[in-house]
Amino acid sequence: MRKPIVAGNWKMNKNIAEAIDLVEAIKCDLAQTREVEVVVCPPFTALKACSDAISDTEIRLGAQNMHWEKNGAYTGEISAEMLRELFCHYVIVGHSERREYFKETDEIVNRKAKAALAANLRPIVCVGETLEQRESGQTEEVVTSQVKGSLADIGAESMKSLIIAYEPVWAIGTGKTATPEQAQEVHALIRKVLAKMLNQDVADGVRIQYGGSMKPSNAAELLSKPDIDGGLIGGAALEASSFVDIVRAAKEVVEA
Ligand code: 13P
Repeated sequence: MRKPIVAGNWKMNKNIAEAIDLVEAIKCDLAQTREVEVVVCPPFTALKACSDAISDTEIRLGAQNMHWEKNGAYTGEISAEMLRELFCHYVIVGHSERREYFKETDEIVNRKAKAALAANLRPIVCVGETLEQRESGQTEEVVTSQVKGSLADIGAESMKSLIIAYEPVWAIGTGKTATPEQAQEVHALIRKVLAKMLNQDVADGVRIQYGGSMKPSNAAELLSKPDIDGGLIGGAALEASSFVDIVRAAKEVVEA
């Protein structure tokens, strides 16, 4: 059984005071939740405050990006070790916004994922096709190549610590969610690619989150699909009530 993982990607939102308010509100309902792994990914500036706020809970902290080098002349960047120092357990790498606006390639995402793993930080590796790619029938090819490139040379043992997020770009922040069937199809494909790259056991063990306009009204249906193991939530993670409701939906699926 794969334990569902629901992570809130706050993106470039929330100042420190707002971040504390949000995490405190989430804590009220989810502090001791164990059936579902709950992760919050605030902006860098709010990591320390959120880390302190959740230190006595089951909620885990994640960052939204990192650099692949340990240290050095990389102005403006942050290393995996620096994130570990703040008690981050997770880091999102290769989000489509970083691929699009900061030109991150699969090779860069691969370096980041490996550097995270080396520092004992669990990478949440994002993949997903654009609308144009979907409409021209390239979804399978694009996602397969992103998975192979982003996860190249990551061994079976390390893969156990890694999470994949399938986020169709056309569903991010648009209110257009992939149907549960569309999402399930790609999640199953990702697992098939992993089985070929490594082995079936590894493929069966890796958790694959869905991301893209997931909200309380569609979460249960998406999460009840066999290969969907959680969600990476953007907009709906900025309000405690909707984030908590999505976690509750995941919990109900586990308990059903
Ligand atoms: P939305 O939930 O706002 O569509 O964002 C999804 C996302 O990009 C999470 O990383």
